[in-house]
Amino acid sequence: MRILETRHLQWADEAACESFAQSLAARLQRSATPVNASIELHGPLGAGKTSLTRHLLRALGVSGRIKSPSYAVLESYGLGPDFAQVGEVSHFDFYRFSDPREWEDAGFRDIFAAPGLKLSEWPDKAAGMLPPADLQIWLTVQEDDSREVDLRAGSDFGVSLLQGLGQGLEARA
Ligand SMILES: Nc1ncnc2c1ncn2[C@@H]1O[C@H](COP(=O)(O)OP(=O)(O)O)[C@@H](O)[C@H]1O
Ligand SMILES: [Mg+2]
Repeated sequence: MRILETRHLQWADEAACESFAQSLAARLQRSATPVNASIELHGPLGAGKTSLTRHLLRALGVSGRIKSPSYAVLESYGLGPDFAQVGEVSHFDFYRFSDPREWEDAGFRDIFAAPGLKLSEWPDKAAGMLPPADLQIWLTVQEDDSREVDLRAGSDFGVSLLQGLGQGLEARA
């Protein structure tokens, strides 16, 4: 992925993660055209990839149970009319993904070719299959349990998402 723009944030606690998710949801919603975007979530086990996804889905109006897709690889969510611009949300966890045939057989190629929001945990496990991301979110856990957050935009849409995203969560120098 060619990195067009970056931003560095800090989440002191999970409330900051939630506030970031709400800010990201608002930017997705106000997209001028129906969203067709891939967001990759990088970082070790326990970094907060699933937590961020849950807060984002809540902010996008999903009210039911939000499972971690670890075993199923994919969980899909339809959004209500207020969030029509975002379309369907596909939440992938590629941690256990190992069979490239599954990419075709399970219809993942079709999902990435179609509009909607694609969120991927452990995208490295599906390297070579995944198209370039619009936005990468890199999470690292600090000793005080806060999270360092590196945002990398890989497309014009990704750059547009970064505008004003996470205000008030800027990392200390
Ligand atoms: N600032 C934070 N952002 C996100 N999660 C946090 C934060 N602080 C603590 N947590 C906790 O860390 C854990 C992250 O777990 P999870 O989201 O499942 O990680 P991952 O999907 O990256 O393996 C959750 O228990 C969450 O409540
Ligand atoms: Mg997870």
